[in-house]
Amino acid sequence: MKTERLPPIPAADAIRWAARRFQRAPLSYGHGTDNAVDEAAALVFHVAGWLHSAAPDAYGWALPLGARRELRRLVRRRIDERVPAAYLTGVTWFAGHEIHVDPRVLVPRSPIAELIEARFEPFIAPGRVRRILDIGTGSGCIAIACAHAFPAAEVDAADLSADALEVARDNIRRHGLEARVHPRLSDVYAGLGADRYDIIVSNPPYVPQAMVDDLPPEYAHEPRMGLASGADGLDAVRRILDGARRHIVPGGLLVVEVGDTAEAVERAWPTTPFLWLDFERGGGGVFLLTLE
Ligand SMILES: C[S@@+](CC[C@H](N)C(=O)[O-])C[C@H]1O[C@@H](n2cnc3c(N)ncnc32)[C@H](O)[C@@H]1O
Repeated sequence: MKTERLPPIPAADAIRWAARRFQRAPLSYGHGTDNAVDEAAALVFHVAGWLHSAAPDAYGWALPLGARRELRRLVRRRIDERVPAAYLTGVTWFAGHEIHVDPRVLVPRSPIAELIEARFEPFIAPGRVRRILDIGTGSGCIAIACAHAFPAAEVDAADLSADALEVARDNIRRHGLEARVHPRLSDVYAGLGADRYDIIVSNPPYVPQAMVDDLPPEYAHEPRMGLASGADGLDAVRRILDGARRHIVPGGLLVVEVGDTAEAVERAWPTTPFLWLDFERGGGGVFLLTLE
């Protein structure tokens, strides 16, 4: 019987090998990382079972044989099936928090993470924030990060997808936040009664229907209802804006990511004083409104 010989190699070599393969393939990034080397490193640390905090020492450690085999399998899937790396590892990071993901939920990547880390300052006094609503919570990443940023606040994590809420529930449990983060099955505001919030935050679907099929193959692994939102991409945004007054307390905030549909939003609501946010770590297309 012929056996394959795979001598142990340092992690740094394995990262270089995987990154070279990624660079030669027509991959699209943007699911939590933006380059081949970071994706390669994420896969190497995952197959080795090492914490990312072990870097840079771990770059010199030998990758166990079994891990090398698993790495080859995952690299092949990333290239042949165009599976986003976060679905291969089952985990990603959002605002510094570990979030478990699978294809029932979008891979977290919203620039809103930066605003949450800043506790929405200077737009609201953090001490007054008692209740937060995350519309379209998916994995629960925004709701969970908000709960960590505001330890005294209650957070509703709403989604129309029961599948997504299962993933959110699992993440909420892993973070020990069951007492303060509440998964709610809701079609935008429809399942929330007359509840009011100090902050409503949302990364809703906003891709125009016709454009969803033109996205790189990586996006086809994500739930369609996490991306598509009607002919102009604004169906969910329209409903979020329409109902905001009934669900935000005076002086409260509405923060919504609309990505590349920002110009369409400006055209559709020409008299609304949107404040478009800048982010140090990149990304954009996020507006903020204060309920006066
Ligand atoms: C772009 S994903 C965002 C997920 C997560 N908040 C994040 O930032 O990674 C949008 C989410 O909105 C949910 N969604 C779509 N339509 C909805 C609706 N009418 N009401 C509530 N949630 C909806 C989808 O199921 C999906 O989880």
